[in-house]
Amino acid sequence: SSRPYLIGGNWKANGTVASVEKLVAEFNAAGPIPPNTDVVIGAPFIHIPMLLNTLRPDIKVAAQNSALTGTGAHTGEVCASQLKDLGLEWVILGHSERREGFGMAGEDSKLVADKTKLAIDEGLKVMFCIGEKKEEREAGTTMDVCAEQMAPLAEILSEDEWANVSIAYEPVWAIGTGLTATPEMAQETHANIRQWVAANVSQKVADAVQIQYGGSMNGGNAKALLAENDIDGGLIGGDHSSWSFSTSSTGPE
Ligand code: G3P
Repeated sequence: SSRPYLIGGNWKANGTVASVEKLVAEFNAAGPIPPNTDVVIGAPFIHIPMLLNTLRPDIKVAAQNSALTGTGAHTGEVCASQLKDLGLEWVILGHSERREGFGMAGEDSKLVADKTKLAIDEGLKVMFCIGEKKEEREAGTTMDVCAEQMAPLAEILSEDEWANVSIAYEPVWAIGTGLTATPEMAQETHANIRQWVAANVSQKVADAVQIQYGGSMNGGNAKALLAENDIDGGLIGGDHSSWSFSTSSTGPE
């Protein structure tokens, strides 16, 4: 496609100072990033300063959440403005694990949209995560779910603001399960998502917006997924201890 690739890593709540040091050393020693490709690592807040200080500058760093507040009396929260102030470009918002809530109240689509708008207002770019659960795919409601997750965002973002959004499509049943959507299945949903954006935002935004695939993507299946027309990148979790960085296995042609 004409769109650049966006390859994201999502470390989730993994890692220690020692394991981050080791990964940074590996990443810094790895080869060049393929042309037309951006690489972004989504790290825990506590590891972000370390990454900003030691990681090669052509790999960007993302936070995995930001609060729906500005600075102030919000104990335990981290604001988009603080992330921007630290030098970050990116934040991952609306990951299915946060929507689910870890046994607490999860984030609904309106909250995720409002956080996304605030992060963009503060000058960040957002990997905006959507995706259906297993029972929803089986019931044939995949696109209803994705549309419900995108609708509040389409309501509040201007056309120009969409330039700061990458949609990360992560079917929940594929996350951490080893069950990857086949390239055909993923392409079909990505095309439907793009069509939804064309109908509900604009054709111009639909043509430009990157749609990343997430869910058991790895060095073995990335190439076939990224070869599809509407798959513009990945968001990769997996077993943190086995992470490595190879520009040949995940890079586009
Ligand atoms: O955000 C990426 C993540 O949810 C995908 O996880 O482990 O299936 O690559 P994994």
